[in-house]
Order: sequence, then structure tokens, then C-alpha cells
Amino acid sequence: MNAPVGPEQITAAAIASFDNCRDPRARAILQALTRHLHALVTEVNPTQLEWSQAIEALNQSGKLTNEHRQEFVLWSDVLGLSMLIDAIAADRPSGATESTVIGPFWAVGSPLREYGADIREQPGGDPVWVHGHVLSVDGRPIAQAELDVWQNGPNRLYAVQDPGAPEAHLRGRFLTRPDGSYAFLAVRPTPYPIPADGPVGRMLEATDRHPWRPAHIHVAVSAEGYEPLATHIFDADSEYLDSDAVFAVKPSLIRTFVPRAPRDPHCPPGVSGEWFSVEMDLVLADRDARRRDHGSTQRT
Ligand code: BEZ
Ligand code: FE
Repeated sequence: MNAPVGPEQITAAAIASFDNCRDPRARAILQALTRHLHALVTEVNPTQLEWSQAIEALNQSGKLTNEHRQEFVLWSDVLGLSMLIDAIAADRPSGATESTVIGPFWAVGSPLREYGADIREQPGGDPVWVHGHVLSVDGRPIAQAELDVWQNGPNRLYAVQDPGAPEAHLRGRFLTRPDGSYAFLAVRPTPYPIPADGPVGRMLEATDRHPWRPAHIHVAVSAEGYEPLATHIFDADSEYLDSDAVFAVKPSLIRTFVPRAPRDPHCPPGVSGEWFSVEMDLVLADRDARRRDHGSTQRT
């Protein structure tokens, strides 16, 4: 083979270097990656300085990443890749609740709490009664489904970010009752900026983008025989619903947090003053209902 000379020959040679890869999926991915990276460089024609800045951003992302901080996932989030993967993978049947990003603030080992329990381990903020049912797409209640919930509080922080908060603050796991119902007492979530003190934050700043996410409560649901679901309950009154830094808002996940009077007969125990309620049913896809056809480069 002649040595490549011009840009087109370099690209062709780099793509062809994977021709003998015996794994067809790995070959397809690496050839597509090479093709698209070369197309990017051909299109933007970076200077040597811009190229070394790009490499430095990747180096810094690696140095910042550890078990608590995932700068590469954040790149995927702010470039819309996490939600693109979610959209492409979404072959759930119609009627099933839509998924959205998990984000970096889920933590293993939330306490298992009773139906209706309070996840607030510190005072502050407006109480919210969060309730609904976990159902199959044909409307059957799913008993013993596990909900794992986490959210931020009035100081904008999740417990894992807040050295002053007890570990279990604003987190909990719940099992649905025989009729599929769940409920817990939470606090009204607040909009917050994604971690912006690293290369992702510098990119947002340099490109005049803001780092804010609209207020939401995270819910991950799992049940025997059903596809697991990770989703949000978005507050309909929140700022940033139309400009989420990570593109994760889906209209079907937006709910009104209904103001309730202190004397309301349904006022949850331990609540005095104004409170809110929000209802969201969570509809799970049957595990057997998944259909996949990714053509010649099918995943296994
Ligand atoms: C979150 O919702 O917690 C989140 C999602 C993506 C990036 C940062 C935070
Ligand atoms: Fe969040």
C-alpha cells in the first residue's frame, strides 16, 4: 500500500485500518468514529493551538473524574448525547412513562422508607406530597415495585453535594402497595446549575450557554418482569423548562405542584402551613415488549 499523502488518503487509510477487525460491531463503530472525527476536523480546520486546547480539555476531564465526579458524562449531557441515546433506545410501548437522564447525584444505599414517609431530614422549603401509582401499560397496578427517589432542596444542593446534610436527606426507596400506590413527603425542588467548575463549565461560559436545570424530582422505578425506568417529575412553574442545560425535559413529565391550604383535610402528618401536592403515575413497559432492529450493525 502506498503511504497516504493528502487529507482524503489519510482519512481513507485510517478507516481501512479496521477492515480486518473480526468483530463486525467493533469494526462498524471504529470506522464510523474515524469517519466522523475526520469530517469534523476537515470542516472546522482547527489551528494547532485549538487542537491542543481540545486535548487539554480531555486531559482535565480525566483528572477531574472519580467515583463522585463524572466529567465525561457531563460532556455527554451538555452536548445532548445522553438524551440522543435515550431517544434512540426508547422503543418502549406507547403509554409507558418516558425516561430521562439519571445525572450524577444518585447514590447507592438510600434508606427503605414506609409509604408516605418524609424524606426531609432537615427543615426548610415548601413541603410536597408526591403520590401516584405504578402501573403496567394496560393499567394493571404493580405491587412491590421499588421507587428510588432523590432531589435537591431549597439551597439547590443534593445531599451528596452538601457536607452539612445528613446522608439520607431528600433520598429514599419505597415499595408500592398492593394497589400499586406510592406516596412520600418531599420538598419543592429548585432549579440548579450543573457542576460548572471544570472543562464543561468553561465550555458553557465560552459559548454563552447557561448551566441551569429546571426544578425536578428524580424517580427510578424497578419491578420484576418490567423494564427499569429512570425519570423526573418536572415542576410546571419552574424556570429553565425551555432551556435545560442537558436537554432532558419531556412535556409528558411536567406536572403542576398544586398549592394546598393548611386546613386541607388531606394535609399530611407533620405539615403545618402551606403545602403542595403533585401526582404522577409511573407506567412501566413489560420486559418482553422490547423490539429492537438496528440493521446490519445490530447490538447484542
Ligand atoms: C441531574 O438532574 O441531577 C443532572 C443531570 C445531568 C447533569 C447534571 C445534573
Ligand atoms: Fe437532578
